[in-house]
Amino acid sequence: MCGIVGYLGPKAAYPILVNGLKRLEYRGYDSAGIALLSGDEMNIYKAKGKVSDLEAVCEEKDKNGAIGIGHTRWATHGEPNQINAHPHTTSHGNLAMVHNGIIENYATLKAELIARGHSFKSETDSEVLLHLIEEIQLAGEYQLEDAVRLALKKVVGAYAIVVMAVNDPEKLVAARKSSPLAIGVADDSFFIGSDVSPFAEHTQRVIYLNDFEIATIRVNGSLTIKTVEDEVVDPFIQELDINLENLEKGDFDHFMLKEIYEQPAAIQNCLRGRLNVEDLNLDLRAVRENLDTFKNASRIIIVSCGTSWHAGLVAEYWIEAMAGIPVEVEYASEFRYRQPVIKPTDVVIAISQSGETADTLAAMELAKSKGAFIFSICNVVGSSISREAHAGMYTHAGPEIGVASTKAFTTQLICLYMLSLELARANNEMEDFTYWNNLSELAVLDKAIEQVLSLNDEVKELARDYTESTNFMYLGRGYNFPIALEGALKLKEISYIHAEGYPAAEMKHGPIALIDENMPCMVLANCGAGRDKIISNMQEIRARKGEVIAIAFEGDTEIAESASHVLYIPKTNEMLSTIVANTILQLLAYHISVLKGCDVDQPRNLAKSVTVE
Ligand code: F6R
Repeated sequence: MCGIVGYLGPKAAYPILVNGLKRLEYRGYDSAGIALLSGDEMNIYKAKGKVSDLEAVCEEKDKNGAIGIGHTRWATHGEPNQINAHPHTTSHGNLAMVHNGIIENYATLKAELIARGHSFKSETDSEVLLHLIEEIQLAGEYQLEDAVRLALKKVVGAYAIVVMAVNDPEKLVAARKSSPLAIGVADDSFFIGSDVSPFAEHTQRVIYLNDFEIATIRVNGSLTIKTVEDEVVDPFIQELDINLENLEKGDFDHFMLKEIYEQPAAIQNCLRGRLNVEDLNLDLRAVRENLDTFKNASRIIIVSCGTSWHAGLVAEYWIEAMAGIPVEVEYASEFRYRQPVIKPTDVVIAISQSGETADTLAAMELAKSKGAFIFSICNVVGSSISREAHAGMYTHAGPEIGVASTKAFTTQLICLYMLSLELARANNEMEDFTYWNNLSELAVLDKAIEQVLSLNDEVKELARDYTESTNFMYLGRGYNFPIALEGALKLKEISYIHAEGYPAAEMKHGPIALIDENMPCMVLANCGAGRDKIISNMQEIRARKGEVIAIAFEGDTEIAESASHVLYIPKTNEMLSTIVANTILQLLAYHISVLKGCDVDQPRNLAKSVTVE
């Protein structure tokens, strides 16, 4: 939540910062701002709305300056307006700061500062931290980095900040705790971003700051990192491996559609180096190296949020069915606060696209403190969750920019499927033949998704019938139940249509009361064992004038007798067919959203990386 950028070097800062903010807009888009330092003059421009609104504000303004910071906001404290937008400044106009995170003790600090004569312009917690920095800087004639350090010792909460000072003008000071911050290092300049996307086209060398670290970058090219306790840290510079095309929409109208279409390639990337097609075996290094821990686990607990939680639910079905290990799936936000029983023999899997979700991070830290083994499945390389875990796998889906998760979910499932198979083998729960069969199907899953993507026009046509719908029901049994939840989430978050996902058999315990001619029901009928039962459920809906749209395997013509429209997907094994069917649900949500004129990539009130509780 919130994206921050910084630049210091010989070039004009403004275009670099604005382009960087556009790349980070997925993190929040209710207001944006920029501060530019040119000599001893600091110009600050802000706008309610998106980065394009900020550009309009800046059009006629002085945009000089080779040092600057910028921010795109997802509001926590204070409504989204120009005053609450970052960068914040102090009454002396000496400092400017951008902040991502929450200062939890801001109310106490603010009261103390007000008592000492400070007055505040905004309602934000961030402005409080800035006043504290300024007070310390002026009182002790401290260098900017020391004032920042001393102020941070007084705050409780999460922060990634960049501070700039007119009276200490040749530097930027950046710090982090629990909110991500990356520093790009080029020959003659430095870049700062909430992730690497704002500067990936300028440099491939990056430093990921750790919690409680403060970096000072200077125009003379020097960079120093110290901890909040004033200990010097050696910078660890890593080489980036990022495909710049992934950061642009290309020929697609929206990132979401591009990312849906990228799924076959994302699957291949996720399988590369792990699935050996010739010998039909898997090599999951992180699992292999910890196989005894997995084998001896009394249970697996999966912690995650939103779409990643749905991936966890699918994995519960898969791991229990294939490997016979008990699995519990928890909302990270509940787990972290409900005093759960966690034993050192538990294996906790944290699933997160961003690797920064505050609740998931806190849940895994809790489990870690109780001695559990933590395994992460993340998409963003170098993210906090992946670094905090004992071991883990990356999904290798590439940057996911659309706020609604698509290709990351698919590759989470691929990782979890591979993990389930490995655990099944380790526990002698799966015969060679079945194992090879499963791997053969996995190897061609990308082709099945490609085939489903060719249904795009049919799904788009179908979507026209539902732009006026106000409710939707998604039903599935077994492996498809979590996919029903995911389909409903996708529709509600990008088209604002109320949608519910249920296990199909649960319908008669309540939700069936909602069925009438105004309640379209999407039924996942791509199943084996439960197929007859799902046909009965479809008939129950039809008997109450409900409309049924179904997803079924090619050739299953009987399904059409109980549905007004059937979308046929290629036959794969039932477990993997969840991923294929989900692609249809992604497309349906996408087209309904576009036809309704919604902002597909940046739906209202949402942000991609939820770094607040
Ligand atoms: C929905 C969506 C969210 C995320 C959730 C967790 O499309 O993207 O529900 O899945 O906020 O985010 P991560 O996976 O980054 O932990």
